[in-house]
Amino acid sequence: MEHGLFITFEGIEGCGKSTQLKLVADDLKAKGCDVVTTREPGGTVIGDQIRRILLAPEHKNLEPLAELFLYAAARAQHVHELIRPELARGKVVLCDRYVDATRAYQGAARQIDPQILERLIDVPTGGLMPTLTLILDCPVEVGLRRAVTRNAQHPTTKEDRFEREARDFHERVRLGYLAIAKQEPKRVKIIDATGSVESIHQTILQEVDRVVHNSRA
Ligand SMILES: Nc1ncnc2c1ncn2[C@@H]1O[C@H](COP(=O)(O)OP(=O)(O)O)[C@@H](O)[C@H]1O
Ligand SMILES: [Mg+2]
Repeated sequence: MEHGLFITFEGIEGCGKSTQLKLVADDLKAKGCDVVTTREPGGTVIGDQIRRILLAPEHKNLEPLAELFLYAAARAQHVHELIRPELARGKVVLCDRYVDATRAYQGAARQIDPQILERLIDVPTGGLMPTLTLILDCPVEVGLRRAVTRNAQHPTTKEDRFEREARDFHERVRLGYLAIAKQEPKRVKIIDATGSVESIHQTILQEVDRVVHNSRA
């Protein structure tokens, strides 16, 4: 059994995952928690190589099953090399995307068979699930608009393969996330991500403080 606390951030492109994850990390560090931040795909040197293949806009013909296996490979490395060891050290691990992204993108949006999908989630994770998952929910046009603004502000950040998907793809992703929250209301919390960065942060902190408190009780 891990001693740390595993919290994941999910939601469509541009909903504010990276922004909010950093704010939570800063807040927990200020409160004296030992925090590790990471992301998927990636989180390890090998995972970051796989991330490049997955996000490259020129890989337009990447097969949905090949995509799923690449995510599974990156995740196997991530769970083995980073997430489990850090949890065993008692750290709070904050991860930008995890298994629910596979369900929303490869399941709800790409329509891969749920049985295959769940196997490809279960095997690389060994069943390791987050204690808390925050789904930042906003309309697709809000998220995509934020992502476009972000990419314009950081000329090094190119639009990736997923941001190029059609709008109805992102709608299916959003609905996929909402369905997960309905199925697992204890683990997964929907956070309204349409407000200001600060107001969303306050809502998220209430959820985070609750699980941090419970984990120490
Ligand atoms: N609540 C918010 N209101 C307005 N802009 C936001 C908000 N949250 C994040 N942003 C901005 O939107 C862009 C996308 O946010 P980001 O955290 O990168 O999203 P994600 O990691 O989910 O793709 C960034 O430029 C960020 O500064
Ligand atoms: Mg991000």
